Amino acid sequence: MKSRSSDQLPCGKKEGQDNTPKIVLLLTLGLVLITVTSIYCYPDLLVSSLAWKSTTPPPDPSSTPSWSSPASTTSRSEHGADVPPTREKKNTIRLLPNDPYRKKCDIFRGEWVPNPNAPYYTNETCWAIHEHQNCMKYGRPDGGFMKWRWKPDGCELPVFNPAVFLELVRDKSLAFVGDSVGRNQMQSLMCLLSRVTYAVDASLGQDEKFRRWFFPVYNFTVANYWSPYLVRAVEADPGGPTFTGLFNLHLDEADANWTAHISPFDYVVVSAGHWFFRPSMYYESGRFAGCHYCLVPNVTDLTHYYGYRRAFRTAFRALNALPGYRGTTFLRTFAPSHFENGAWDKGGDCARTAPLRSNETRLEGINLEMYMTQLEEFRAAAAEAEAKGRKYRLLDTTEAMLLRPDGHPSRYGRRPEEQTGVMRNDCVHWCLPGPVDTWNDFLLQMLKMEGGRSPGAGARSARRQ
Ligand SMILES: *[C@@H]1O[C@H](CO)[C@@H](O)[C@H](O)[C@H]1NC(C)=O
Ligand SMILES: *[C@@H]1O[C@H](CO)[C@@H](O)[C@H](O)[C@H]1NC(C)=O
Ligand SMILES: *[C@@H]1O[C@H](CO)[C@@H](O)[C@H](O)[C@H]1NC(C)=O
Ligand SMILES: *[C@@H]1O[C@H](CO)[C@@H](O)[C@H](O)[C@H]1NC(C)=O
Ligand SMILES: *[C@@H]1O[C@H](CO)[C@@H](O)[C@H](O)[C@H]1NC(C)=O
Repeated sequence: MKSRSSDQLPCGKKEGQDNTPKIVLLLTLGLVLITVTSIYCYPDLLVSSLAWKSTTPPPDPSSTPSWSSPASTTSRSEHGADVPPTREKKNTIRLLPNDPYRKKCDIFRGEWVPNPNAPYYTNETCWAIHEHQNCMKYGRPDGGFMKWRWKPDGCELPVFNPAVFLELVRDKSLAFVGDSVGRNQMQSLMCLLSRVTYAVDASLGQDEKFRRWFFPVYNFTVANYWSPYLVRAVEADPGGPTFTGLFNLHLDEADANWTAHISPFDYVVVSAGHWFFRPSMYYESGRFAGCHYCLVPNVTDLTHYYGYRRAFRTAFRALNALPGYRGTTFLRTFAPSHFENGAWDKGGDCARTAPLRSNETRLEGINLEMYMTQLEEFRAAAAEAEAKGRKYRLLDTTEAMLLRPDGHPSRYGRRPEEQTGVMRNDCVHWCLPGPVDTWNDFLLQMLKMEGGRSPGAGARSARRQ
């Protein structure tokens, strides 16, 4: 079912264990090791598009990962060097002027509150849960992380109603473009919809990276397009300085793996994130421009923020220039990882069992910078698109997910016998069911507010509510 193609990047050709001495050495050299690994680097498992990575904090080896623990007494400015002073304040993250979801109530600012009725599906009722996000199957002992809902300050966000969603997307199509965290949302959506209807596999090929599902009863199509960098990416070296692969990124060329197929879609959810921390060589106008963490003498390190910014710029420009594209573009914003008590490669884990309150942490450091970088590109592209009558919407998941250190698979994304040893904890993806289901609560709320339905259809869906 899953392809064994070249995207098994996180494992490369080496066992995880082999990497350790080199990585430790790099850290002791005081280098900012921002890299990638997979916890699934064992040969019997066909992990294809599952690839993830994490950020590690800047040089101080004793510092904790990039979020503030409520119990932590360490300085909250440990990543201060990464963050321009103008971004220190949370309230500098402001709304888009024309964003209809935020006029009356900002649904993306709020708190997690208990929801005894959740979850709305289980690993028994939904077939679509990816192996490595099926935390209950792999023995996660606490189920409390599934029993929360998002409560915006000043209003309510209804939990996902599959019947309402399906009415809104009747005769329409939705594409997810991005990496395995984007696929995480698609699988959540498949599970949520499976409560009321069925889907058939309408994939055009066998590649798990490009799946398409058709809901016959509603004439609705969902597809995912694997494109972790959004731009054309060529693996230059399966090893590289961190043994996580070295990529040549053509920062001004959108990845045709999605751009060639996306114009018929009504809704396109674009996301990207953790892959950009990997070592990569940057190309622009066909010429080498610099790199991120390539550790090649005399090559300028442009930082991963540079690559991230250019990739979004290119992706949005491609969408704006796509002939025949009339869809609504959603940017699903960066979802922070949560490694505590160590970096991703030093035993860092995400073992919490409950969300944080918003006053217990804040968006800062690498997370804030990633978020602002994509937001700035989004705003520029949205302004340009608006002139052409195209819609851009912000699916602003970052703050809600920052509060969910309890929502990751940790060691429960793999079989018990593989839960110890050299395998890393997964504090990047999200368990299903789990907090990622809320991304679809947001999506539904946004579709409802679009009001793009004909009067008859609108009345029909209103009655269903
Ligand atoms: C679902 O999770 C339970 C534990 O909650 C486990 O016993 C069962 O095998 C899992 N089933 C599937 C199909 O994953
Ligand atoms: C199904 O939806 C597509 C658009 O996604 C539309 O072109 C087509 O006419 C619809 N089919 C029916 C039978 O309504
Ligand atoms: C695009 O697809 C081709 C063929 O599947 C593959 O070789 C290439 O690596 C893909 N590009 C990206 C960026 O995934
Ligand atoms: C790097 O640049 C310095 C100064 O220009 C030069 O002496 C050195 O040979 C260069 N190293 C490499 C590996 O090109
Ligand atoms: C956060 O807010 C809650 C509820 O308002 C309060 O009980 C708690 O003490 C606050 N925590 C911190 C760290 O300020």
